[in-house]
Amino acid sequence: MSIYNITLIKGDGIGPEIIDEAVKVLDAVAGVSGLEFNYDEALMGGIAYDITGDPLPQETIAKSLNSDAVLFGAIGGQKWDELPREKRPESGLLRFRKELGVYANYRPAVVYDELVNASSLKPEIVEGVDLMVIRELIGGIYFGEPKGRDENKGWNTMVYTREEITRIAHHAFKIAMKREKRVCSIDKANVLDVSQLWREEVEEVAKEYPEVELTHMYVDNAAMQLILNPRQFDVMLTGNIFGDILSDEASMLSGSIGLLPSASVGNKIGVYEPIHGSAPDIAGQGIANPIATIASASMMLRFALGENEAADRIDAGIKQALSEGYRTKDLAQFDAKEICSTSEMGSIIANYAAKCKL
Ligand code: IPM
Ligand code: MG
Repeated sequence: MSIYNITLIKGDGIGPEIIDEAVKVLDAVAGVSGLEFNYDEALMGGIAYDITGDPLPQETIAKSLNSDAVLFGAIGGQKWDELPREKRPESGLLRFRKELGVYANYRPAVVYDELVNASSLKPEIVEGVDLMVIRELIGGIYFGEPKGRDENKGWNTMVYTREEITRIAHHAFKIAMKREKRVCSIDKANVLDVSQLWREEVEEVAKEYPEVELTHMYVDNAAMQLILNPRQFDVMLTGNIFGDILSDEASMLSGSIGLLPSASVGNKIGVYEPIHGSAPDIAGQGIANPIATIASASMMLRFALGENEAADRIDAGIKQALSEGYRTKDLAQFDAKEICSTSEMGSIIANYAAKCKL
């Protein structure tokens, strides 16, 4: 039996509800796949600030670095919006990513056949979409210096070094090799110096992957192409802020932001989290969609622990729940046979994942 230590960071808003469902599913597959998970909870975000005065207590970093992987819910909420920037939940998350060195953020956007009607776009546009945004996560304008503000001015700086571009580009090409072997690198090289360097360096890395077709696209055009013809994309390689924006846009192809998982990797310990936020407006009502978090747990099994069979089980469980017509409220209008709560959805997926024949 393989035993894994998982740090759970539930966070704020719907975070605790969706993490509980992912744990339920993990435990269900553990039983049949011969795995055991030890969970250790750690604080981050608004709740961490309320309890400790710091949105990212040192203990959370220490626990995370001592575990095999981190499963993360969501952080933030209006309650903490007025705090000074470094006390805000979002600052905790950004510092956490930096401390763990997770510079590569994988954000797949897949349209499930069962939900082809759920997108705000026409079914014939989104059918069969299966793309992966590889977003640089600990550089760019989020972290660049100088930054600051005074009474009349605010400023941030988009900086990338060759080294930062190279290491994220390798992730994109390696992933592309396992997919359709196409990388589209996103930049604003017609305006930004930092993007010119980005383009130059991505071209360099591409030479090591002769089988992969590399194209470049300006970010504004990419935003348009994503809704015009999303099937043209296989892997989209982006800097930090472009990937933040485009991955939210891409999530709408799938019908609900409550469906999309992510993996943040780079150093030893990876962070697995849904791409959505803490949705305080629906917290505690049992209507949040846990699928993004459950799918993040599947990515954790695959990427961090190499437990592909268990991951396949979870993916199959999600698919079956959707094809049987189970829907949480966000997807209630789309071919639903039964509307279920957050915890019912977790139980249904757990059950299918444990029983499915692979
Ligand atoms: C995301 C979020 C974060 C980001 C926020 C909460 C800091 O939007 O993970 O996409 O901008 O990276
Ligand atoms: Mg975002």
